[in-house]
Amino acid sequence: MTTYTIFGTGNMGTAISGVLSKGGASTDNLSHGEATTATIEGEVVILAVPYPAVDEIITRHREALAGKTVIDITNPLNFDTFDELVVPAGSSAAAEIQGKLPDSTVLKAFNTTFAATLNSGKTGDLTTTVLVAGDDEAAKSALITDINAGGLDALDAGSLKRAHELEALGFLQLTLAGAEKISWSGGFGLVK
Ligand SMILES: NC(=O)c1ccc[n+]([C@@H]2O[C@H](COP(=O)([O-])OP(=O)(O)OC[C@H]3O[C@@H](n4cnc5c(N)ncnc54)[C@H](OP(=O)(O)O)[C@@H]3O)[C@@H](O)[C@H]2O)c1
Repeated sequence: MTTYTIFGTGNMGTAISGVLSKGGASTDNLSHGEATTATIEGEVVILAVPYPAVDEIITRHREALAGKTVIDITNPLNFDTFDELVVPAGSSAAAEIQGKLPDSTVLKAFNTTFAATLNSGKTGDLTTTVLVAGDDEAAKSALITDINAGGLDALDAGSLKRAHELEALGFLQLTLAGAEKISWSGGFGLVK
């Protein structure tokens, strides 16, 4: 049984915790108030917070995160313009985080699935698919197993470089929902 520490008690933190605990994993969500002082107990850490909050958390917990899998779920959108990502061109939030946490294994996951589709398990008529990218095959495989156990599909989308494409997909999905062209309970599904 994998143990997860999830920073964030919002829409995504709660939804991800629901999926993983349904599959038998142990999850502990840390609220904003707990984030600074809490001890990280989980083997795997999920950053279910806005991208601007990530730096504070990883700076504070850098030593505790060493040797652990750290899952970045953020869509690093410029929320002032709603028209660009705030990470350097060609990079990704996940790659930036990996650069700041060289002793951790960073995965990108969950950023292309709205919280509602994690809660319902459905994207339209399809089972919700979580896309996972990262350079560590064992860490990806373990996460995919736990997501599958929670009733969702999950797919290895490739190396951490693919986080760039996943963030582009998440960005596009957000702008479509923001413009009310799709609903916040819809989004991209995957047909194999
Ligand atoms: N919502 C979605 O459908 C969706 C889909 C894909 C990806 N994402 C990504 O998932 C992440 C979380 O989104 P969300 O919708 O769950 O947001 P949310 O509902 O607003 O929850 C964010 C959580 O982060 C906490 N937080 C904020 N600043 C913090 C800080 N400096 N230190 C520690 N905790 C902090 C918040 O606590 P307080 O509320 O107490 O400040 C809250 O618990 C974002 O990066 C977003 O881009 C969201």
